[in-house]
Amino acid sequence: MANVTILPVRKVEGVIEVPGDKSISHRAVMLSSIAEGTTAISNFLMGEDCLHTIKAFKQMGIKIVHSPWSMVNSPKVIIEGKGLRGLKKPKKELYLGNSGTTMRLLLGILSGQDFECVLSGDESLSGRPMKRVAEPLALMGAKITTKDDGRKTRDEEMYPPLKIIGQYPLKAIRYKSPIASAQVKSAVLLAGLYAEGITEVEEPSLSRDHTERMLKAFSAKVKTAGLAASIEGSPLKSPGSIFVPGDISSAAFFMVAASVLGQSSVRLKNTGINDTRTGIIDILKKMGARIELSSIREEGGEPVADITVYSSRLKGVLIEGAEIPRAIDELPVLMVAAVFAEGKTVIKGAGELRVKETDRIASMVGNLKKLGADIRAEGDDVIINGTGLLRGATVDSLGDHRTAMSMVIAGLKAEGKTTVLDTACINTSFPEFENILHKLV
Ligand code: S3P
Repeated sequence: MANVTILPVRKVEGVIEVPGDKSISHRAVMLSSIAEGTTAISNFLMGEDCLHTIKAFKQMGIKIVHSPWSMVNSPKVIIEGKGLRGLKKPKKELYLGNSGTTMRLLLGILSGQDFECVLSGDESLSGRPMKRVAEPLALMGAKITTKDDGRKTRDEEMYPPLKIIGQYPLKAIRYKSPIASAQVKSAVLLAGLYAEGITEVEEPSLSRDHTERMLKAFSAKVKTAGLAASIEGSPLKSPGSIFVPGDISSAAFFMVAASVLGQSSVRLKNTGINDTRTGIIDILKKMGARIELSSIREEGGEPVADITVYSSRLKGVLIEGAEIPRAIDELPVLMVAAVFAEGKTVIKGAGELRVKETDRIASMVGNLKKLGADIRAEGDDVIINGTGLLRGATVDSLGDHRTAMSMVIAGLKAEGKTTVLDTACINTSFPEFENILHKLV
C-alpha cells in the first residue's frame, strides 16, 4: 500500500499542464465506440478509471488502440466505431474497478443492447448507489437487477454487481431527476439514443454537460434548454478527432495550493473551463483568491483557457445551492482552502459527497480534524472555522483519490510532517499528481 509523506513548503510556483479531463475522456471512448467512423482522441486521461472504460468496450468487440501507460505526455487513443448496434455480448462480466462514471453511463448504453451482461467493481464501487440510474432505465424498458451476491437489500438501494438485460428499441421517457447528477442525466440520454421518440431529462440544478456537448459533436439530435436536455434516437457520426481539455478537477488541487501558500504563482495551461465545472474558480474568487484566465478558446465544443492563480488572503464564505454540483468534486480541496481562510465557511447541502468513492464529508472532516482543523459536519453541511493552522499527522485516504490529493495539499501548509496513507488510489484520476507537484515546489 503506497503512502505519501509531505513536508511543509513556502510556496508553489511554475507553469504546468494537468492531464485530460476524466469525465470527457470516458465520454469520448463511449461515443466513439458506438459511432460510425474512426475517432482519434488526443490528450486522453490515462488514469485507471478511463482505462477501465476502454477495456469494457474492447471486451464488447471494439477495436481500440492506445499509447502505453507510460506515455502520459502524448496520450492518444484511436477507436474504430461500430455504430449504435455494433457492440457484442462480452464473454465475461465487465469489471470496472473504482469507476462510478463508467458503470452508470455504460448502463445507459447497455439498456439499448439486446444482450445480457454483468457489471462489477471494486469494494468502493460495490457500495455505491445504482438505483438512481436503474430506475429511469427500467422505465425505458431495461431490466437491471443486482447479481445474486450483490448487497441488494441494504436501505432499499441497489448495489453492484448488477445484471442488465437490454432491449431494442427502448421507450422514450420524460424524466425529472430528483438529484443534479451528470451520471444520471447521461445514462438516460445515452439510452435515449436507442429509444423511439424523444427522451428528456430535467434536473433540479445544472450538472456537468459534457455528454450533451459531445453528443452534438457526434451529430446527435440533442437539445438543451435550461435545466432540461432531450435527445431523439439517431446514428452517431464520428467527428474524426477529439481533443480532451485539461481536467479542472485535477487543476483544483494546485489552485488551492497556490492560493493559500504565500508568494505563489501557478499557471495551469489548457484547462477546461466549462461553466458547469468552474464552481471552483467562482468559489475561490468569492473567498478572495486572485485567479486570471487567458488564451480563452474553444476546442471541440468545450471552452479551454490558461488559468493563473496567485496567493492571496482568503475569507470564509457560504457555499450552497447551484454552486454544489458545479464544484462537487472540488469540495474536499475547498475544505482545505477554508481552513486557511479568515472566518467561517459553511458548505450547505452537500449530501451527494456521502455517496462518492468514499463518504467525503466523513473522510475530510475526520482527516482535517486529525491535523487540528476546526471543522465539523452537521447532517449534510460542513462548517469550518478558519484557524490558518494545521499540524502534521498521519491521515488516511480511505481509498479515495480526491481525499488523498486534498490531504497532500493540506500537508504542504501544515507544521511538521504529514503522512497520507493508501495513496495508490490517486492513479484512478491523476497518475501524474506527485510528479507535477514536485515541479512546483
Ligand atoms: C461525473 C459526475 C459527477 C462527479 C463524477 C464524474 C461524470 O458525479 O462527481 O466524479 O463524469 O459524469 P454525479 O453525477 O454522481 O454527481
